[in-house]
Amino acid sequence: EKSGYEHFMLKEIHEQPNAIKDTLRGRIINDGEIVLDKVKITKDEIDKIEKIFIVACGTAYHAGVVGKYAIEKFARIPVEVDIASEFRYREPIINERTLTIVVSQSGETADTIAALKEAKKHNSRVIAITNVVGSSISREADDVIYTWAGPEIAVASTKAYTTQLVALYLIALDLALKKGTIEKEYAKQICDELKKLPERAERILNYKDELQEFASNHFNTKDVFYLGRGLDYAVAMEGSLKLKEISYIHSEAYAAGELKHGTLALIENGTLVIALATQEHLFEKMLSNIREVTTRGGYVLAFAMEGNKQLEGIVEKVIYLPKTMEEVAPIITVIPLQLLAYYMAVEKGCDVDKPRNLAKSVTVE
Ligand code: F6R
Repeated sequence: EKSGYEHFMLKEIHEQPNAIKDTLRGRIINDGEIVLDKVKITKDEIDKIEKIFIVACGTAYHAGVVGKYAIEKFARIPVEVDIASEFRYREPIINERTLTIVVSQSGETADTIAALKEAKKHNSRVIAITNVVGSSISREADDVIYTWAGPEIAVASTKAYTTQLVALYLIALDLALKKGTIEKEYAKQICDELKKLPERAERILNYKDELQEFASNHFNTKDVFYLGRGLDYAVAMEGSLKLKEISYIHSEAYAAGELKHGTLALIENGTLVIALATQEHLFEKMLSNIREVTTRGGYVLAFAMEGNKQLEGIVEKVIYLPKTMEEVAPIITVIPLQLLAYYMAVEKGCDVDKPRNLAKSVTVE
């Protein structure tokens, strides 16, 4: 069952290279065309869409935030990402020109099912991204993309998240290619990058020992702040959730540019800050935010792309991610954050696979 791993979570983190591969399989053809069998939406229908909602809870919601960036960038359709328990009660503006994408590992989350029904009631087409074949959400949606992550046992979601990202990138590319908003050559480059991710994810798993050591020195920390810009902000949210849910360490994610609008007041000598700096076009901005932290004595663990040495000597520690196009970087950036949360929780002696107060599938409201 745990195949020699101490916890399901660690096993599932290690399954990500294969889960990504399985989720991509057969869906990219001729180097840059997308095939999504169970997504029947036509070019005409896509051309009529004026707005997209991505609706989900928890980790799946965080995947949606990445999806927004991808869809807006490639397909140039405005996207709103909503928390399902908010969406269903706030009378969202939905009509037949709205496309709704619901994301749910289990396919059984009560609020997400209710959001799906709300969308359908107002004539929105619904695409579901789910990991469970035959789940309620897969049955009620118009179109389905399955993530082929395999069963996820640990309460903390890992491989479901990375495969949800893959599915969202595939949808973004599919919409963009059908709409004609993306250059074929650029789409091909993104596809090539997606295909290289399993191998890169595999390489990141080698950082285990480094992260375990870091955790053994920092598990007593009371608060952790995760900072990033753009796609790194989306990943920061997920890294922060992972840490708090399994290690019970308080953590917050911030868009780095927001720091000086309040949060900077909390940074003092020794405060642990995880800075994500994988986005090349935002690097200079991120660097100045990092300086805001280090100037106040913050202790910074940074994640940067291989080849970018600019953080050396500025922060306490830099972990280099295998060089990847920044557009798809979240899929690999999240992996060391999952490992960090895992080792922090293990060091603290927490029940990693079954964190207190939480259930795997939230089928009640
Ligand atoms: C966190 C986690 C939860 C789920 C959320 C939605 O690690 O697993 O936040 O992501 O409960 O669950 P699904 O995706 O099954 O709808």
